[in-house]
Amino acid sequence: MSVFLDHASTSPLRAVAREALDSALATLGNPSSVHAHGQRTREILEDARDQVAAACGANRSEVVFLSGGTEANNQAIKGIYWRRNQADPNRKVIVSAGTEHHALIDPIIWLVQHEGAELVELPAARNGEIDLGALAALIESRGDEIALISLMWLNNETGVITDIAKVTQLAATKDIPVHSDAVAALGHIPIDFVASGLTAMSISGHKVGSPIGIGALVVRRDFNPVSLLHGGGQERGLRSGTMNYALAAAFGAAAKEAVAELEERQARMRLYRDKLESEILAAIPEAIVTAAGTTRAEHNAHIIFPGVGSDSMLFLLDQRGISVSAGSACQAGVLGPSHVLLAMGHSPEDASSCLRMTLGHTTTESDIEALISAVKEVHPQALAASRI
Ligand SMILES: Cc1ncc(COP(=O)(O)O)c(C=O)c1O
Repeated sequence: MSVFLDHASTSPLRAVAREALDSALATLGNPSSVHAHGQRTREILEDARDQVAAACGANRSEVVFLSGGTEANNQAIKGIYWRRNQADPNRKVIVSAGTEHHALIDPIIWLVQHEGAELVELPAARNGEIDLGALAALIESRGDEIALISLMWLNNETGVITDIAKVTQLAATKDIPVHSDAVAALGHIPIDFVASGLTAMSISGHKVGSPIGIGALVVRRDFNPVSLLHGGGQERGLRSGTMNYALAAAFGAAAKEAVAELEERQARMRLYRDKLESEILAAIPEAIVTAAGTTRAEHNAHIIFPGVGSDSMLFLLDQRGISVSAGSACQAGVLGPSHVLLAMGHSPEDASSCLRMTLGHTTTESDIEALISAVKEVHPQALAASRI
């Protein structure tokens, strides 16, 4: 048996993405060349840009293709900070939260350590909600010192959704640019870049069913972040280098399909997720649905199993052919407590006792049934192993 319920780590390749990739790979040309070959691949690239823009409510000229979410976050955080700080050296504060992905927090920490930036983290509640009252108070007291605000749209561990329109509304009172890591949001909840009021937004193809290695930074036309790369000036000067039109085509096709079937999938995911949570809670009453009571995505179930090491549960489920995770995929494959849960005020024990189950376009009811019965079966064993 093979059950994949870890769509937040990467989502299975969609057939439309594979077809778009194959067809683009069979087409020769550098999209920057002016001859007919170049024009053909330029057309593929620009069609992909249209599809990605339509999928996230952006204008086509706002989509800058690059390698994925990590690069988009680095480019956004450093590029916006440098631009704002150059214009006004007083603006050194970056506002974010401890619940963000490392691909977002680490570039901020780099700016703190190397460029004299100051990070202010907004408090998060135990259910993952970011305290936007604290943001309002901070903007009121220190708004003129803030270079940028960055808050993720949908948390990749807990599934909690932040009210981005409210964030940009508050920021506008002091002309503060807002970036959002929307890597976990695209294709899982409706997002509209233009309506959101954001200055920039990161998205990544492999979370919606394209191959890994393609993503985009969506940036408003009237804002020019300082570029990390220098070279041929492709992609509005923000991503020099010959453009990967084939991966872009796959991303465009995957994003288009993911958004077209979103409403239907969300309804299905809600049924599956509710069944999964209610049956697990009925069998294991001490289990806690982490983000209960707040606005959260349908495809995400995040549960704390008190006293049970995440590693024991993951191992036992994996032995039964079921892939889930404890949180973000970590580089070394060694699990520590989730920094996201710690930032939400959970104990290190609880932050090491959780499972993230994320559903997606290939998930079936039988996957959910297999997971429920496996969790019920392995829980006593994992509990015993964790007590040793
Ligand atoms: C919220 C979030 N941001 C950024 C990233 C990094 O994206 P990529 O893998 O495309 O570099 C991920 C991937 O796990 C993510 O979940």
